[in-house]
Amino acid sequence: MIEQLKNRVFLAPMAGVTDRAYREIVDGFGAGLSFTEMVSAKGLYYKDKKTSSLLEVGDLKNPCSAQVFGHEPEIMAEIAGRLTEYGAKFVDLNSGCPTPKVTSNGDGAALMKDPILFGKVVRSLVDNAGVPVSVKIRKGWDEQSINAVTLAKIAEENGASMITVHPRTARQLYSGKADWDIIKQVVENVKIPVVGNGDITCGKDANVMMEYTGCAAVMIGRGCMGNPWLIKEAICALEGRELAPPSLEDRISLALYHIRLIIKYKGEYVGIREARKHALWYIKGVRKSAKVKSLITNATSYAQMENLLTSLNES
Ligand SMILES: Cc1cc2nc3c(=O)[nH]c(=O)nc-3n(C[C@H](O)[C@H](O)[C@H](O)COP(=O)(O)O)c2cc1C
Repeated sequence: MIEQLKNRVFLAPMAGVTDRAYREIVDGFGAGLSFTEMVSAKGLYYKDKKTSSLLEVGDLKNPCSAQVFGHEPEIMAEIAGRLTEYGAKFVDLNSGCPTPKVTSNGDGAALMKDPILFGKVVRSLVDNAGVPVSVKIRKGWDEQSINAVTLAKIAEENGASMITVHPRTARQLYSGKADWDIIKQVVENVKIPVVGNGDITCGKDANVMMEYTGCAAVMIGRGCMGNPWLIKEAICALEGRELAPPSLEDRISLALYHIRLIIKYKGEYVGIREARKHALWYIKGVRKSAKVKSLITNATSYAQMENLLTSLNES
């Protein structure tokens, strides 16, 4: 699958963040691959409308992969073909989500605790998706059970086309430093392409991660919040070029465009509420923004958002 992609800089799946509007923005900055927010295999199985709406891809220049979580091979077999009905070109198995709501059902990172079942779930998706399947794992469940290399080998044996490693344990959630040595160990032990993920916050980090670990591509998550330019910055860095940082005007204008896109897909009521966090991320570090920030957290219309954000341009 990786050979079909234009570059080696991917947008990470992030539930509640990388929705259709966000993926459209990042596609504009050239992300070689993006992922949907994780969707529940059970939700699809029971034909939950909200679950399938998360899979809507729309018109993108670059492919998007549908990310699914679940632990029952039979259910995966049933729903695998449906994952790409809404425009995704590939399927990705989430084996890394540490949220108790997910792991308490045996899904997400909990699959890492049962390598045999993990292999069956991967095989079930590979045999039934009709498109290449990748897998996203963590370093292990906890420091006493670091098994990313074993799981990567199992994923490969069961037909996965690519594997992403977020090298923290599930217990760590998002704290501590990502352990890039684990990415390196996975690269050294499988033949399929490995995507390195964790703590890329500038273009240079992408170069360093690739050189240090030998990974085939990088995946960026939190660094892109309010800063989708980071995708382009990383692409440029891998090509040996530098990208000038966006001006305040650029940031505000993209924030407003982003909010309009969210409203387009979710309506103004829901859209504005979901847009608040994005707006705050776009203006992180902007001088004299404290008062505007507290007003943004209560904004209820696009007109209010526009007034608040453009007032920063003038200050
Ligand atoms: C708010 C949030 C939501 C996330 N949702 C998902 C998800 O749906 N699926 C997934 O595989 N990882 C998810 N992740 C993990 C990211 O994809 C990524 O692995 C992690 O943030 C480390 O990369 P980073 O340091 O570049 O952020 C999420 C992370 C955050 C912060």
